Amino acid sequence: MPSDDELIALDRAHLWRPYTSSDDHEKRPLFVVDRAEGPWLIGSDGRRILDASGSWWCNNLGHGHPRLRAALARQSEQLMHCTLAAATHEPASRLAAELVEVAPAGLNRVFYSDNGSTAVEVALKIAFQYWRQNGCPERNRFLALPGAYHGDTLGTMSAGAVDEFTSVFRPLLFNVQRPPEPIDHRWEPVFDELAALLRNDADRIAGVIVEPLVQGAAGMRMYPAELLTALREETERAGTLLIADEVFTGFGRTGPMWACDHAGITPDLLCTAKGLSGGVLPFSATLATERIYDGFRGDKSRALMHGHTFCGNPLGAAVAREVLAIYRDDDILEAAKPKAARLAERIQDMVEVPGVTAPRSLGMCGAFEVGESGYMGTIGWQISDAALGLGAHLRPLGNTVYVVPPLNIDNADLERLLDIVRESTERVLAGAE
Ligand SMILES: Cc1ncc(COP(=O)(O)O)c(C=O)c1O
Repeated sequence: MPSDDELIALDRAHLWRPYTSSDDHEKRPLFVVDRAEGPWLIGSDGRRILDASGSWWCNNLGHGHPRLRAALARQSEQLMHCTLAAATHEPASRLAAELVEVAPAGLNRVFYSDNGSTAVEVALKIAFQYWRQNGCPERNRFLALPGAYHGDTLGTMSAGAVDEFTSVFRPLLFNVQRPPEPIDHRWEPVFDELAALLRNDADRIAGVIVEPLVQGAAGMRMYPAELLTALREETERAGTLLIADEVFTGFGRTGPMWACDHAGITPDLLCTAKGLSGGVLPFSATLATERIYDGFRGDKSRALMHGHTFCGNPLGAAVAREVLAIYRDDDILEAAKPKAARLAERIQDMVEVPGVTAPRSLGMCGAFEVGESGYMGTIGWQISDAALGLGAHLRPLGNTVYVVPPLNIDNADLERLLDIVRESTERVLAGAE
């Protein structure tokens, strides 16, 4: 078996790391993960590290869940892949029905793709094509929120507004209008302005896209559910589509199954990925209403012109079905409620640490700030380094420190994780590191 040093040398020599400059790639410490179980990442030396970022916000049921391993093994014996063009199979068709069952009422159709970005890209393309071939080609613009993040493809970057991710590509992106940034965390004026933009141009808007209630990449920014409820009414009044990007917030991350449930709304299109496959396989879906699906009836020229090789991949679909079964059998959402309450309490307590501001949480997502510089801030990274030494893998968004543990994390592991977050933050902010 190769040593950690050998693996790190290979990594540094040949790998291109996401969101990391080539210089940083050579310098930043790396934890070599050998295996993982529950909330724990385990090194080759047996060192156990709590995975506080849920392996990029997707690991909702913990690593190596025995039922997900078994479902994957079972499915691999039978059918690992097959095109979804003019063929179907049990995992894809049953999963579609089961997703419709748990989705906000009225979302009746499921289009599969491979990751969060494609799920959103598909939603944008559906909305655009829908109007184009159903008598309203002038509805060709999208509205979005400031600070939005919807993925890294060109379409999703156009809808996005986290400049650090998109500014270099700006000349390639299409124009999406959005209100200015919230001031002092006040979101009401932002939604008022969004409604005004919508009313001013009601007949030209193909859709409004939002991350419901929590903007993840912008720094775990949270806004009240009532604003989403009101936005749904505005989109209905304007006769346009609401696209809910639940890639991060879905599958109980914020409490209920969908963040839209807090607001009691059904969007026209809903994007899901990450937790959909328990964070195990690249798998995603875009859900739509029957009305939108009906807009694609007719000859070949009216078909949705989109498809991926691995659309509805049987392994991913079988694992996603098992994820849904675990949510049902273990009542994951109900069981997470006391954990979320405890997380909220401990995150609120972080204000006792001098230098910590804006503690906030929703469901199993908690965050706070440790400085002003946002995504480009470095204090969060110092805290992350300190936390790694204490046994937790944090991946801050610059100076936003957050935790998104598995929904089914043990109470003792949750306390341990929050102890480490507290201790590493205290040490760094006291200048002890
Ligand atoms: C809200 C949201 N949409 C879309 C994406 C893109 O998902 P993926 O990284 O799977 O392409 C993310 C990823 O973090 C996200 O948080």
